Amino acid sequence: MNDFVHTLTVMPTARQPGCPFDPPKELIEIREHGPISRFTFPDGHQGWLVTGFDLVRAVLADSRFSSRKELMRHHPTIDYGDIEVPPAPPGEFLLMDEPQHSRYRKPLVGKFTVRRMRLLTERIEQITAEHLDAMEQAGPTADLVTAFAKPIPSIVICELLGVPYEDRGRFQENIDAFLGGEAGDEELIAAYTATQHYLAELVAAKRANPTDDVLSDLLDSDLTDEELRGMALILLSAGFDTTANMLALGTFALLRNPEQLAALRAEPALADGAVEELLRYLSVAKTFMRTALEDVELGGQTIRAGTAVILSYVTANRDPERFTDPHVLDLRRQDGGHLAFGHGIHQCLGQQLARVEMRVAFPALVNRFPTLRLAVPADEVALRPEIADIYGVKSLPVTWDA
Ligand code: HEM
Repeated sequence: MNDFVHTLTVMPTARQPGCPFDPPKELIEIREHGPISRFTFPDGHQGWLVTGFDLVRAVLADSRFSSRKELMRHHPTIDYGDIEVPPAPPGEFLLMDEPQHSRYRKPLVGKFTVRRMRLLTERIEQITAEHLDAMEQAGPTADLVTAFAKPIPSIVICELLGVPYEDRGRFQENIDAFLGGEAGDEELIAAYTATQHYLAELVAAKRANPTDDVLSDLLDSDLTDEELRGMALILLSAGFDTTANMLALGTFALLRNPEQLAALRAEPALADGAVEELLRYLSVAKTFMRTALEDVELGGQTIRAGTAVILSYVTANRDPERFTDPHVLDLRRQDGGHLAFGHGIHQCLGQQLARVEMRVAFPALVNRFPTLRLAVPADEVALRPEIADIYGVKSLPVTWDA
């Protein structure tokens, strides 16, 4: 139990100079005071910030904490005033509770199993090899983000969902605007509207001419077109930006830890463990929110009904009470079991897909370019603003000996 409850009034947003992979220093300090702290949101709401591994996991497993969009009126860094937040549109199940959530998640679960995703391995190897070939031919320098990290997950999720190849650029730009954390309000609205229009066209095209993909498979269910659009939006946005940022930021982290990179090159069997450790170490999906539906006792505190709770995955995955030397990237780590894919009913649906993509892509990249290195000083690598939902690098200039 905490006698002392730390109170935070500003969400720490700045990574330390020279430590782009570590959570903001203040967040680490907050966790040292205890796994749960009071947090005053910019609009004055008195909520909570949960930073410890066990408590974050406990909240994620507890149905008394809601993911419903309409309850999330308080933002950790922005004062929205008294706005009414509408419920999540049909199909956008990330921001719903049961039973609505299951209506959408259930029909998808069988399509993202370990077995199904392993069957995709060969195709992912092929896509990866094509991008490495193109990089090699255009080299010996490249922006790893545009040449490798973005196109691979983008092609994979588009193929799975049946998004035609020629539409990818359009969709990728809009998703970037959504999630990159740098678009103004107008740009955000324009990107959202354009994506909605596009998805409406896509669902209509599948109805007219079903193909062999996840979206077409769902046409036989009782899901409406509006619901299918919402589900497609969640899959496209969740399936692309997260993995793309893991690939780019993960490569940056490996380049900054050359002995770990050398181990990955020397021992192909290390790939699975390396991916899990990079997921833990980087936690690109940094924070998620929940709202208490009733009074809940948590870590010795009473969370009142209606109170907003920020869950810090990034500090949970660096919790010294859970991980030995948490701030060290150790591809051979034995104390695994991170929260990078969340936990509970919203645990990442695409985690097996993301794993296969990363298990293929990281080793293929480092083996294709044995002399891969940064083309700029590490402190000049442009990072995404901390306000972005998903953390990462904006670009990663790399070079190699031709
Ligand atoms: C949910 C992380 C890749 C689809 C989540 C959540 C996290 C996460 C933390 C839980 C959110 C919460 O607790 O509210 C990641 C990371 C990825 C990744 C780090 C890459 C490394 C993917 C991929 C897909 C995907 C490739 C593709 C299908 C989803 C969906 C949900 C989700 C649909 C919502 C699940 C639900 O609400 O039931 N992801 N994800 N993710 N993810 Fe991922």
